[in-house]
Amino acid sequence: MMKSSTLLRHVARSAATRTPTVSVASRILPARNFTNGAILKDKALSDEAEDNKHDEYSTSGKPGAFEHEGQFSRTDNRIKVEYPEEDNLPSSKPVQGRGGFHFKRTLASFSLEGRVGVVTGGARGLGLVMSQALILSGADVAIVDLNKDEAARQAEELMNHFREENPGATNVPKVTAHYADVASPESVNAAIEEIIADHGKIDNLVTSAGFTENYDAIQYPFDRMQKLWGVNVNGTYLFAIGVAKHLMERKAPGSVVFIGSMSGAIVNVPQPQAPYNAAKAAVRHLASSLAVEWAHAGIRVNCISPGYMLTGLTKKILDDNPELANKWTSLIPQGKMGRPEDLMGAVTFLCSDASGYVTGADLRVDGGYTVT
Ligand SMILES: NC(=O)c1ccc[n+]([C@@H]2O[C@H](COP(=O)([O-])OP(=O)(O)OC[C@H]3O[C@@H](n4cnc5c(N)ncnc54)[C@H](O)[C@@H]3O)[C@@H](O)[C@H]2O)c1
Repeated sequence: MMKSSTLLRHVARSAATRTPTVSVASRILPARNFTNGAILKDKALSDEAEDNKHDEYSTSGKPGAFEHEGQFSRTDNRIKVEYPEEDNLPSSKPVQGRGGFHFKRTLASFSLEGRVGVVTGGARGLGLVMSQALILSGADVAIVDLNKDEAARQAEELMNHFREENPGATNVPKVTAHYADVASPESVNAAIEEIIADHGKIDNLVTSAGFTENYDAIQYPFDRMQKLWGVNVNGTYLFAIGVAKHLMERKAPGSVVFIGSMSGAIVNVPQPQAPYNAAKAAVRHLASSLAVEWAHAGIRVNCISPGYMLTGLTKKILDDNPELANKWTSLIPQGKMGRPEDLMGAVTFLCSDASGYVTGADLRVDGGYTVT
């Protein structure tokens, strides 16, 4: 004969299985119907049910026994998204209509007037919009990218945009484009030399060159994985040390901002991306470590960790995998993906004197994703 405790567990489970959307409390209650009404017996059984309730929620049960089991917190190894080849990358547009002179009072310490900023991966996506943030805040900017033509086109576009939004402005910012493969030390050093020759100096660095891919870890081709770490981790490190060396030689203070990701602090679901998550954790901790190492020289190093941002590339991924959009937004307290513009304030703050006492920090711009 089935022991009553086992029976209760079965009943509780079958009730839960039949009505998957019922609340936790109502899922436990049907167990009481199996008492004969005798108060003592009822109490003994309900004590037992309490024990089983603990059991129910602390064991994984039979496959399919609970519809909810793990479904919001597991990766799905069938999802595979490769970073596109250069020719298939969508191009981005500068943000429209927000850059003209305004007469709102704001802290002068947010201004980047007279500064030169370098943005790696600045030809597209988040890097392009952050370049624009630096320009609108007063800086001249050097855009560095693997795709120099796209970088040059966007540099022109940004200057034209500035002229349109600021008619009559005499002080049009200088925006230049430079080739570099950030994963190669020679290429990085050559780009830094070229930038210093063009602009005379570098004050700020924003490292946005990076990419993600979704692959089941066991299937991920090792050469792709090495490339992913090469661009995201080595690329960040190489550009940072190049710029820090220049700042130290100039005996000038500076501010460096790494673009990490919330994936450096949490594990995204359902798409598998273990190497990317680890790479972004490395970027975040590299920022803290270099912040300590370079504090003596007045060089601040911080990290921005964006959540899901809607760029040309993520839009393409979501168009191809529509179910992902619902899953992602269901996990974001603000209920929506971020826009690249949402990073403009964060990057300006961290580059400017307004954040003079902020170093080694990780600024999450993720709609609250990582606090739940
Ligand atoms: N888009 C998001 O939702 C999101 C979220 C969190 C973090 N991030 C991070 O933000 C950064 C920018 O992402 P994005 O969405 O703007 O990507 P993107 O693909 O739109 O732009 C990345 C740019 O980097 C350039 N690049 C790639 N490899 C390079 C290399 N080896 N050397 C020089 N340039 C190179 C590309 O040509 C491209 O212009 C990445 O580090 C990414 O991991 C993005």
